[in-house]
Amino acid sequence: MTYNDTFIKACRREQVDCLPVWYMRQAGRYDPDYRKIKEKYSLLEICKQPELAAEITMMPVNKLGVDAAILYSDIMNPVASLGIDFDIVKNIGPVIHTPIRSEQDVQRLRPIDVDKDLSHIIQTIQILHKQLKVPLISFAGAPFTIASYLIEGKPSKSYILTKQMMYSEPKVWFALMDKLGDMVITYLKSHIAAGAKAVQLFDSWVGALSPRDFETYVLPTITRIFEELTELKEPKIYFPGVSSGELLPYLKGLQADVIGLDWRIPIQEGRRRLGDRFAVQGNLDPYVLMAPQSVIERQAKEVIDQGIQHSGYIFNLGHGLFPEASLEKLKDLTAYIHEYSRSVLSE
Ligand code: CP3
Repeated sequence: MTYNDTFIKACRREQVDCLPVWYMRQAGRYDPDYRKIKEKYSLLEICKQPELAAEITMMPVNKLGVDAAILYSDIMNPVASLGIDFDIVKNIGPVIHTPIRSEQDVQRLRPIDVDKDLSHIIQTIQILHKQLKVPLISFAGAPFTIASYLIEGKPSKSYILTKQMMYSEPKVWFALMDKLGDMVITYLKSHIAAGAKAVQLFDSWVGALSPRDFETYVLPTITRIFEELTELKEPKIYFPGVSSGELLPYLKGLQADVIGLDWRIPIQEGRRRLGDRFAVQGNLDPYVLMAPQSVIERQAKEVIDQGIQHSGYIFNLGHGLFPEASLEKLKDLTAYIHEYSRSVLSE
């Protein structure tokens, strides 16, 4: 089998024969084989077994026929190296034992040490680098999204304590953003050195901020991250998460190659707000996967018909897959996207 680099070409806005597709959270609980592994091990236990983590990373590539793999890991993994204890609790998400609430808490955070604390992640990437016939996307959580877990101590709907720190103690907030920014830069560079072919920064919850607060409290760190990553030639993706449509005009200056869109904004409108420097990725509503196949394909076609109008488009969902999704439907959807886009692009 030859190497499939359609995804990389689309990130670079080069011409492709058919659209690349991958799904956020494509390695996960909708897959019965994955659920079986999860009966024995927790997510963190799996991440510490590079062979097993690599096997899970490859499952959706083999079963669904997607054009990229995403590392099986979690955005929380690197914070262990900063000295933070956490668990990933079933049906809840990340839970931090001692949340970050004060200046002293922020000062205590250590710089990330990938060799000492995260060699299992590097080994997983090295295994995948040898075995994969599609590009491996590695990722990190963006500073706001990670900070929201560290400050709240658990997933939140209101981000009340996060916003409280942001507004009341801006010095502490920016010190935390700086430390998390440094963590992301070092971590992602180590992934590229180990063989990852692209990186995605997940800012899943930053859409909770007004555009003005995003610009003041978060964008400077995001800008610095992508500036410091420009030395890497591999494509870099920023995903500003759910409800991020109003933030898009503020991303125009980022040194990223691709911007991920959520499903609330039509792709054409997203492109208009972003300007023409970026490839875009997205944005089928993941919950459309609960519909009959004919409805899924009709909605996917609407997304593709917009995305395909310019080079630099990667099919994805507007957010991650959820456990109730069906493997068969996803497989059929992937085939449909390839087939339909090939017919449009050959016209
Ligand atoms: O996308 C992939 O297939 C790669 C693996 C991946 C995981 N987490 C594994 C995981 C990726 C890219 C992530 C990123 C991640 N983790 C994000 C950003 C993406 C997004 O959805 O916005 C966020 C916010 C987290 C934090 C997190 N980890 C949450 C909210 C949860 C869900 C908790 C639950 O049980 O519903 C997790 C756990 C988690 N991370 C699971 C997986 C497969 C599910 C639980 C499990 O299988 O143990």
